[in-house]
Amino acid sequence: MKGKKITIIGGSGGLGRIFARFFKKHGFDVTLMARNEERLKKVSQEVGVKYELNLQKSVSNADIVMVSIPIRSTPEMIEKVAQYLKENALIFDITSLKFEVVKSLRKVQERYPINCISLHPMFGPGIEDLKNFVMLYLKIGGTDQYESITNELFNLFKKEGLKITETTLDFHDMMIALTLGVPHMFNILFLNLIKESNQPIDELMKYTGTTFLLQKLFAENIIQKEVEMLGEIQMDNFQFQNILELFEHLLKSYRKTIKTKDMEGFKKLFSNGIEYSKNDKHYNNAYKYFYQFIKILKNDDFK
Ligand SMILES: NC(=O)c1ccc[n+]([C@@H]2O[C@H](COP(=O)([O-])OP(=O)(O)OC[C@H]3O[C@@H](n4cnc5c(N)ncnc54)[C@H](OP(=O)(O)O)[C@@H]3O)[C@@H](O)[C@H]2O)c1
Repeated sequence: MKGKKITIIGGSGGLGRIFARFFKKHGFDVTLMARNEERLKKVSQEVGVKYELNLQKSVSNADIVMVSIPIRSTPEMIEKVAQYLKENALIFDITSLKFEVVKSLRKVQERYPINCISLHPMFGPGIEDLKNFVMLYLKIGGTDQYESITNELFNLFKKEGLKITETTLDFHDMMIALTLGVPHMFNILFLNLIKESNQPIDELMKYTGTTFLLQKLFAENIIQKEVEMLGEIQMDNFQFQNILELFEHLLKSYRKTIKTKDMEGFKKLFSNGIEYSKNDKHYNNAYKYFYQFIKILKNDDFK
């Protein structure tokens, strides 16, 4: 794909920048597009690629267009930009939710002689090396060149060590409710619950062993992420409503277990968890991994 032209809409953002570096490294002619010129110019200089503020100009010669903007704006952007694409161009998004985006991709794919795919990188802008990270994809469809064009892209990702996994629309959003929505929710609630105690965090730290330390770190990482994106991942995924209902039910019964000092019920919760997790590849070494993370934190404390 050397010399091919790619335009990244949202190229000055966190993931836009990561993918700009990736495509540049693989010999692409990269153009970044976004609205704020100052930031766009800064990022394009940092990465060593071009930028263009005019949407139509930015995409009309592109072989590939990547849409890397907030989830809620993506469907409209896809529908707007598709009319400007040249024949056989490939367009893809990287949103964390697929329900609305896939509707738009299907619509434009029927209307124009272009190729559409929907990707979901399961990593954030903090990534340094793509090796062993996961990239989910949903095939949408396109011209008679669809297979060869999409395979070329996949091969590029595979070369970098990414694990490429095909998924389907409903299944994707249901799984994302579990793998993103749930841990985000627990970590947001964790800090809010602790805050309700009115104990300053440095006071709590004097009473901190290991589990709180690591849990706090997870929560502090989540709470600094893009708030709108995390909100959209939960609010715009109707499958997350089912999770909330389950959670409410579970919390109610947990409360009863604790209140009634029901040790058998408490043990049941543990055995349920073990039954579910025991074949997971990290299960047997969980304690070891845990202490490796703690070691990093403790060493850092003494710097
Ligand atoms: N961050 C993650 O951990 C992560 C992980 C997986 C997938 N994703 C997905 O990746 C996408 C981008 O996320 P991100 O974290 O990179 O977001 P981000 O850092 O907030 O960047 C968003 C980019 O989009 C541009 N933008 C916003 N609205 C635009 C519009 N209407 N027209 C043109 N450009 C526009 C912004 O620049 P201007 O404001 O200057 O236009 C900026 O360059 C989202 O769909 C998200 O779901 C993110």
